[in-house]
Amino acid sequence: MKNIVLIGFMGVGKGSIAREILQHSKYMTIDTDDLIESMENRKIKIIFEDEGEAYFRKLEKNVAKWLETSVKNTLISTGGGFYKQTNLKKIGIIVLLDSPFDAIIKRIKEHPNATKKLKKRPLLANLKKAKELYDARYPEYLKLADIIVDVTNKNADTAAKELLKKVKKYV
Ligand code: S3P
Repeated sequence: MKNIVLIGFMGVGKGSIAREILQHSKYMTIDTDDLIESMENRKIKIIFEDEGEAYFRKLEKNVAKWLETSVKNTLISTGGGFYKQTNLKKIGIIVLLDSPFDAIIKRIKEHPNATKKLKKRPLLANLKKAKELYDARYPEYLKLADIIVDVTNKNADTAAKELLKKVKKYV
């Protein structure tokens, strides 16, 4: 099985869908943010505060190299900026979780842990800037995607099933 690489904007549901896939398929899952937090033994928010974004992006690059050479049969959930890695296509099939900006923010705000979810993402602190980031990234996400799954108003279970069905044609 080829790796599946989940890309998409912060809060779109990459983590929730990865958890569903872990339960309902043969894929193991890895999350690039979790890997970075383990490597650094501190939270992403703290890494941004202490070292700045550029340092975080270097860590993402190291993770991308490792994924390319060492990981197989895995669903890889990525941070919203990980798509910039130049070897992304070599890591696996790219699946974009697609949803409009307003729907993503609504989804986060309606979550029981909304405050925590917003706090842990430094790039969501300012929603006007976050929308600009979304608009800049969106065409790039589309260009990279082998498969697009529209996740708007879908629960993780439905989206995961749709994803696995679409991926079958590629593996
Ligand atoms: C980022 C997204 C975050 C995390 C970091 C930067 C981004 O991951 O990697 O805060 O640049 O979009 P999620 O997409 O899981 O929120």
